[in-house]
Amino acid sequence: MGGAKCQGSPSAPFSESFCCPLERSRTVGTGLPQGNGGRKIGEVRRARGGAGELKIRPALEADLSAIARIEAESYSNPWHPDTFGTLLRRNRAKILVAEDGEGGVAGYGVYWWVLEQAELANLAVQADQRGRGVGGAILDRTLLVAADQGIESIFLEVRVSNESARRLYASRGFRQISVRKGYYQNPKEDALILVRSLGTGAEESGEVGDGPFGSIRM
Ligand SMILES: CC(C)(COP(=O)(O)OP(=O)(O)OC[C@H]1O[C@@H](n2cnc3c(N)ncnc32)[C@H](O)[C@@H]1OP(=O)(O)O)[C@@H](O)C(=O)NCCC(=O)NCCS
Repeated sequence: MGGAKCQGSPSAPFSESFCCPLERSRTVGTGLPQGNGGRKIGEVRRARGGAGELKIRPALEADLSAIARIEAESYSNPWHPDTFGTLLRRNRAKILVAEDGEGGVAGYGVYWWVLEQAELANLAVQADQRGRGVGGAILDRTLLVAADQGIESIFLEVRVSNESARRLYASRGFRQISVRKGYYQNPKEDALILVRSLGTGAEESGEVGDGPFGSIRM
């Protein structure tokens, strides 16, 4: 467990402070985000390194124990296992899982949203499956699904020292917009705030500030 962590607080999107001041009209179906090679939602993709077929799909209750296990091995401050079940039943959050050729869960991503802005709150891959394209496949699908539902920009936080995650996000067109000093604990570390535009909107015209999730705490 390397202490790397990008997660926001799961309670944040449902708290009063989460109410987004950006009351703009919602644009549904903004199309595919740029830079994803035009992959389609539901596409089955082969992971690198002989991992076999990889299917990205919405999480089910039956996946929760595998998700919790990967979470525990991935973070120094893992979410409580019950958190994923709660998120699964929320209207404004989605969990996608990567299912390997044998039906096991190899990784997952979590995002939540308010209006047309989203936060990628969690992304993790089983330790022995990393570096084979699983995380990239989950992220690619997340961007496509979010764009399809009308999300215009997606934000995330990442530890400065988490080079593999930073490289992954850079390869998918995320750019840094801010730094939160001492944001992470265990170990204490700064967070980089990254954003990726999924269509036309405020982010592309340079109007984003610190994102709509500034109240999120670890
Ligand atoms: C970050 C994480 C999700 C990446 O998942 P992954 O399956 O290993 O990533 P991929 O194999 O899809 O790699 C995607 C890209 O990330 C980069 N990358 C991934 N692992 C890397 C490593 N160890 N070193 C350097 N770059 C790396 C590569 O640029 C790769 O690009 P490519 O697809 O063009 O080769 C995974 O390492 C993980 O679960 N880490 C622990 C939890 C965590 O830190 N989550 C992110 C919090 S913000």
